[in-house]
Amino acid sequence: MSWTYDDFTKAVFNLTKIDLSSYKERQMKRRIDSLISRNNFRQYEEYYKALQTDKDLLEKFLNYITINVSEFYRNPGQWEVLREHIIPMLIEKHGKLKIWSAASSTGEEPYSVVMLLQEFFPLEDIKVIATDIDKEAIRKAKEGLYLEKSLQSLPREYISKFFTVEEELFRIDDRIKERVEFRHHDLLMDPYPNNCHLIICRNVMIYFTEEAKNKLYVKFGEALADDGVLFVGNTEQIIFPHKYKLKSIRTFFYKKM
Ligand SMILES: C[S@@+](CC[C@H](N)C(=O)[O-])C[C@H]1O[C@@H](n2cnc3c(N)ncnc32)[C@H](O)[C@@H]1O
Repeated sequence: MSWTYDDFTKAVFNLTKIDLSSYKERQMKRRIDSLISRNNFRQYEEYYKALQTDKDLLEKFLNYITINVSEFYRNPGQWEVLREHIIPMLIEKHGKLKIWSAASSTGEEPYSVVMLLQEFFPLEDIKVIATDIDKEAIRKAKEGLYLEKSLQSLPREYISKFFTVEEELFRIDDRIKERVEFRHHDLLMDPYPNNCHLIICRNVMIYFTEEAKNKLYVKFGEALADDGVLFVGNTEQIIFPHKYKLKSIRTFFYKKM
């Protein structure tokens, strides 16, 4: 009998420890099915056998399912709220800040927060932890080379101050790069950092099932310091934040109660 999607996700978990069953099935299955047929395989089992032996194919598969789209200062209005209200409030309460950019993809988000923070702190006092499940995205983040279009929402003064142009690409300044510590981290499996004053986790929760989201919000609540803030993505407002001991303080910003 040929494999079901469920059989495939279990096998992928054994091979990679990535839990595809925590991602919304309709969306993920559609993506995987289309990838399989584009790669000229007919069934899950046949494709899985190839993934077991072909490292390159496995890397392409992981890269494809993780969806790395990002940009600097994505949804700029929300970054302005962060700059004008949230950061000053956090500094008043805590002084130095521990910041975690979770699912940071190719680095645009943690680098954006460093550029914003240098308006409040000397650069050497800034440290941002940035994590992602995708090792290739982390490699690109550390490389720090970007297409112009990923900078379209970033304030002009940050671009002129912190980027140099190399042919068609924009290279982020080492002074910003050095303030970010990139780590491999699976939100579904790995322990979370603790005592964070600000957690930025945007545009990844949309891919998870309700059950997985519930667990993750609990963990984010635990990872925050008292009065710490969780900053979520544009379509990721939390319906009942108090369930996770969180309180909405601005649209897309939740404070630990
Ligand atoms: C669409 S990008 C969002 C990037 C950035 N946060 C932003 O909003 O621009 C989603 C990121 O989530 C990461 N991701 C997916 N599943 C993950 C998991 N289980 N744990 C950690 N990161 C994950 C992907 O590798 C990808 O880099």
